[in-house]
Amino acid sequence: MIKRFLSSTAEIPDAPPMPRHVAIIMDGNGRWAKKRLMPRVTGHAKGVERVRDMVEACIKREIGYLTLFAFSSENWRRPQDEVSHLMELFVMALEREVDKMHRNGVRLRVVGDLGRFDARLRELIEQGEALTSDNARLTLTVCANYGGRWDILQAVNAWRRDHPDASEPVDEPGLAPYLSMHYAPEPDLFIRTGGEQRISNFLLWQLAYSELYFTDTLWPDFNAAALDRAIVSYQKRERRFGRTSEQLAAP
Ligand code: IPE
Ligand code: IPE
Ligand code: MG
Repeated sequence: MIKRFLSSTAEIPDAPPMPRHVAIIMDGNGRWAKKRLMPRVTGHAKGVERVRDMVEACIKREIGYLTLFAFSSENWRRPQDEVSHLMELFVMALEREVDKMHRNGVRLRVVGDLGRFDARLRELIEQGEALTSDNARLTLTVCANYGGRWDILQAVNAWRRDHPDASEPVDEPGLAPYLSMHYAPEPDLFIRTGGEQRISNFLLWQLAYSELYFTDTLWPDFNAAALDRAIVSYQKRERRFGRTSEQLAAP
């Protein structure tokens, strides 16, 4: 049975004071390194350490879902050398961290067009997901070779494969189970570190009604206190989902 979560456009979801799902664009590793006259990859290595901290911080705060943008479908455009280093870091992170995640009750999911990764990386992803699949404390989704447009298109194409004789067009509840993050509620809080104010082809569908938070803090400097500042900002928002303030105030 697939658990179904309320869609922010098809229904009016609740707006919990503590975000259930935090989605983060971890940006600024390169600039963090550059400021220190270090190679960009040193910034990425620091960034991996912050991932570990963020997982712990979310567990402590009983946030059920943490989604991290690790590599976009456009990041292949970077210099070959940097791309290779990022892949190595991904392999190393999986080799080192998955057992600990499992002990901590973390369920790992990696979403994106994984076919472009090499066999070793794909194998580690598969093993990590299988090992942790029954854990329920925190679902950590790593978006790798992910693009929001890719996600919507793969969902439409998968739906069409399953409904070759459909006479009606697909609707939202019909498509939702095919999106790569169907197992998670929509993000309540979106965070982008590193100062840019854009989505960069992250979760286009799922961010429809997420509260957006941008900070100049570079990802290697982002810590639990910085997460708390984002949560406080989230808690001050009025999540209207199309309604008026007066409607929200009414009993
Ligand atoms: C984010 O940091 C990590 C990835 C995109 C893999 P960047 O590498 O984009 O860092 P900046 O934006 O150049 O500082
Ligand atoms: C977005 O960061 C992707 C990830 C953090 C993985 P980028 O640094 O690639 O985004 P742009 O190119 O500045 O939009
Ligand atoms: Mg960047």
